[in-house]
Amino acid sequence: MPGVRFSQAWRDTAQRLADAGLSFGQGTEDASQEAAWMLVHSLGWPLLESFARLPALQRRVVPEAALRRLHELLEQRLRTRRPLAYLLGEAWLHGQRFLCDERAIVPRSLIAELLDQGLEPWLRAAPARIADICTGGASLAILAAQRWPGAEVTACDISEPALQLARANVEWHGLDRRVHLLRSDLFEAFEPEQRFDLVLCNPPYVNESSMRALPREFLHEPRLALAGGDDGMDLVRRLLREAPARLRPQGVLVVEIGHERAHFEAAFPRLPVHWLPVSAGDDAVFLVEAAALEARA
Ligand SMILES: C[S@@+](CC[C@H](N)C(=O)[O-])C[C@H]1O[C@@H](n2cnc3c(N)ncnc32)[C@H](O)[C@@H]1O
Repeated sequence: MPGVRFSQAWRDTAQRLADAGLSFGQGTEDASQEAAWMLVHSLGWPLLESFARLPALQRRVVPEAALRRLHELLEQRLRTRRPLAYLLGEAWLHGQRFLCDERAIVPRSLIAELLDQGLEPWLRAAPARIADICTGGASLAILAAQRWPGAEVTACDISEPALQLARANVEWHGLDRRVHLLRSDLFEAFEPEQRFDLVLCNPPYVNESSMRALPREFLHEPRLALAGGDDGMDLVRRLLREAPARLRPQGVLVVEIGHERAHFEAAFPRLPVHWLPVSAGDDAVFLVEAAALEARA
């Protein structure tokens, strides 16, 4: 009797995920993508290579042991509503693997999409000093360090557990000599003279009413990483106050604010920012130049 083929296992798993009304958006976009990840993981195949050739894998037979692993993973996902990345202890962003658990959110920052183009035309030269504020598990700090091999990166978070995870990721990527981790409330613990060419920040920006409506999956993530106060802008207000003193004259600040553009514009009606197009649209990430922040300050 022929065994279960990849195509069937994928379809059945995706159907179970879809029928259960789960939420996605923490490293996967939908039931189909999540089912493929579960299946490839259960098979012990390399993720990126497998995703690149999914059509060619459809007729492969899935061994019994892999089917059992898939079944267990699926049941766990359905029962606990933990994000798949937490169940597997790993997440993928921009083609890179990151260790991942409840100490920080599942890495998915839209800022990662912008690094390849080098933030042109705003960054006029490769940045020598980069800060990643609110670094969580350090995914953006690591991607920035890889993108600009000559740069020193300072990455901070207020959460010690998040920093422990960040440390593990920085070591895993072999970047401990160039990515410096710091426990800090925004820039508070930075050296007084530290200035940066590029400051990245994916802060907690979910407004209070959205926080109350979060799907169960997102309640597994640290509240500190998501909640941005009544209008989502609590941390952004402080960041924009502190950033001018931390940017070099040609420096830029890049901030992700998700679906909170209306709140942002209400809070900063006259600040000239550039909205950078990303896969989620052109109102989720903005860039502001040091001079514009300075003029406002
Ligand atoms: C949305 S998460 C972003 C994590 C990571 N940069 C990413 O993109 O995956 C926000 C992070 O900000 C940290 N955080 C919250 N308040 C902070 C503060 N006042 N200073 C520094 N970090 C803070 C949280 O601990 C959390 O790790």
